[in-house]
Amino acid sequence: MVLWFRKNLQNIMLAAIAMLLATSVNVNAEVVAPVVPKGKGEQCVEPTDVMRKNHMEMLKHQRDETMHNGIRTKKHALKECIACHVQEDEKGQVARFGDDGHFCSSCHNYAGVNVDCFQCHADRPQELIGKGHKIKPHHTADFKDKAINKEALQALTEVSK
Ligand code: HEC
Ligand code: HEC
Ligand code: HEC
Repeated sequence: MVLWFRKNLQNIMLAAIAMLLATSVNVNAEVVAPVVPKGKGEQCVEPTDVMRKNHMEMLKHQRDETMHNGIRTKKHALKECIACHVQEDEKGQVARFGDDGHFCSSCHNYAGVNVDCFQCHADRPQELIGKGHKIKPHHTADFKDKAINKEALQALTEVSK
């Protein structure tokens, strides 16, 4: 009898702890998840869950292929990502890299990830440059300090066409 009671009490306590954990995990997920701006079109270049997990490898791989082998494909090009993922909001403003409202920064700010990509690459589509007052001049202060040669600059201008 004493044994039976002990065994069951243990089960009840375990169930209660499990319930508590489940609720607190749910509450946390709702409260702290970052708000990621929605992409243009029906779907991404790969399934969304794959993109969430693997976009960094794709982009890095793509960069190495371009830089080292001169291979350039449209599918995983950074400006294509930006073309679908960075748009005007309802007030006609375009979020800049670093703002919580910028697609890449929405998650990265939340997760504490730092990327240097937008010191060189455009953080918004070409046709939106110059729209809205958040826009800074094309040549920003950080850009000026970068060691970037004429050819690279030309290549970048081509990329953002
Ligand atoms: C110092 C400047 C600089 C930085 C920083 C930089 N890139 Fe690039 N990137 C370039 C240049 C120059 C090219 C070559 C452009 C070309 O030949 O198309 C390039 C090409 C690429 C390409 C292939 C072409 C394209 O349009 O997508 C990808 C992808 C890319 N970079 C991703 C990244 C990512 C991701 C980061 C951050 C982790 C990054 N780059 C940081 C200068 C830079
Ligand atoms: C043709 C438009 C298009 C292109 C190009 C595109 N995406 Fe997407 N992307 C989408 C759509 C649509 C979704 C799914 C809906 C959503 O959550 O925004 C998505 C989802 C994502 C997600 C998951 C977002 C989330 O809410 O968790 C990531 C990360 C992502 N894309 C990164 C990229 C990167 C990196 C590139 C470039 C290599 C890229 N996308 C190119 C349209 C695009
Ligand atoms: C759905 C959330 C989400 C979105 C949207 C997102 N990222 Fe990420 N990204 C992450 C997370 C989380 C990591 C860190 C992964 C890790 O450390 O394992 C990361 C890492 C990276 C890295 C590698 C950084 C490093 O230090 O190695 C690059 C490069 C990168 N992201 C580029 C981008 C670009 C460019 C965009 C916008 C086109 C973007 N990401 C949008 C969540 C996101």
